Amino acid sequence: MAEVPTSLVLRRPDDWHVHLRDGAMLRAVLPATARTFARAIVMPNLRPPVTSVDAAEAYRSRILEALPEGISFEPLMTAYLTDDLDPDELARGFAQDVFRAAKLYPANATTNSAAGVSDLSKISSVLTCMEAIDMPLLIHGEVTDPDVDVFDREALFIERHLKPLRQRHPQLRIVLEHITTEESATYIREAYQSGDDRIAATITPHHLHLNRNAMFMGGLRSDFYCLPVVKRECHRRALVKAATSGLPCFFLGTDSAPHPRSGKESACGCAGIFNALHALESYAAVFEQASALDQLEGFASEHGPRFYGLPLNADTVTLVRRQQSVPARLTPPRFACLGDDALPDSEWPLLFHAGEALEWTAEFH
Ligand code: DOR
Ligand code: ZN
Repeated sequence: MAEVPTSLVLRRPDDWHVHLRDGAMLRAVLPATARTFARAIVMPNLRPPVTSVDAAEAYRSRILEALPEGISFEPLMTAYLTDDLDPDELARGFAQDVFRAAKLYPANATTNSAAGVSDLSKISSVLTCMEAIDMPLLIHGEVTDPDVDVFDREALFIERHLKPLRQRHPQLRIVLEHITTEESATYIREAYQSGDDRIAATITPHHLHLNRNAMFMGGLRSDFYCLPVVKRECHRRALVKAATSGLPCFFLGTDSAPHPRSGKESACGCAGIFNALHALESYAAVFEQASALDQLEGFASEHGPRFYGLPLNADTVTLVRRQQSVPARLTPPRFACLGDDALPDSEWPLLFHAGEALEWTAEFH
């Protein structure tokens, strides 16, 4: 029988999809991401969204200002696509390494997406430009048609939009973000296996742990509500299989998405799960359960940078087999709670895995 490891040294991972927010929330949540991940693709769905090179540079500066001393962390900024974003602005930001990718939110698909793209035909010149300069397109893959069942919106997006889009722009480099279905996992795997390395997918910890029962366990649980919404158990299993497969077309993206408590607990609760604080331990639990701890490093630290054409990180993080109980709420650093936009204690986000025990603990050097 194989020996059970008591510690794992991993090349330091990156998070290829995270919401860091702004202001007090940014100061509260950034340390959780930055202590674990060397780099992160930062989502642009602020209010107002990040649609210009200047706005992305200013946001990047605010992130770097909020970074605790002694932590090395590189925010990789993204542009928020709208119906009328100028391709030249995008290309300029990409040439200057300000924009690393552009994010496609179908209008009204999720949090702060009202200014997103109402129809793909409106951005065909942007996509042609991105294809020419090899700028990655990050897709929130859900149809927004209110007549389509919420649980079917991702699968239908592939058929209605993604396949035709890829026919029109075969060289466009695409990441299908936070996939939630067997259909998506199969689509990405088959593309890879047919020799197409232009498309990949990120997978979140919560979609690897939860099925849709979580949202209804003992009552309506908005803490397990995110978008795309978690699906049936068969889909969760397909995602675990994809993440642990060792295939380079699947990599880590937490989609950590903090909201103030009042946002989650309202009559119309916001979508988003805040998982940054224990993200690596959470993934480790899934990989161990699938007897695939040996695939964790590829998924967390290698496949993403290779897809984005970036160097692998040289530093490491150690996971030790030491149980930890996850507290209910984030306790942000004190400085996060000062200032005009202070975040009162009552608004601190709930942690993913709150009240549970995790078998692994990450140690940082
Ligand atoms: O659950 C989600 N939360 N999904 C998204 O697509 C957006 C995110 C957010 O910004 O809160
Ligand atoms: Zn997201």
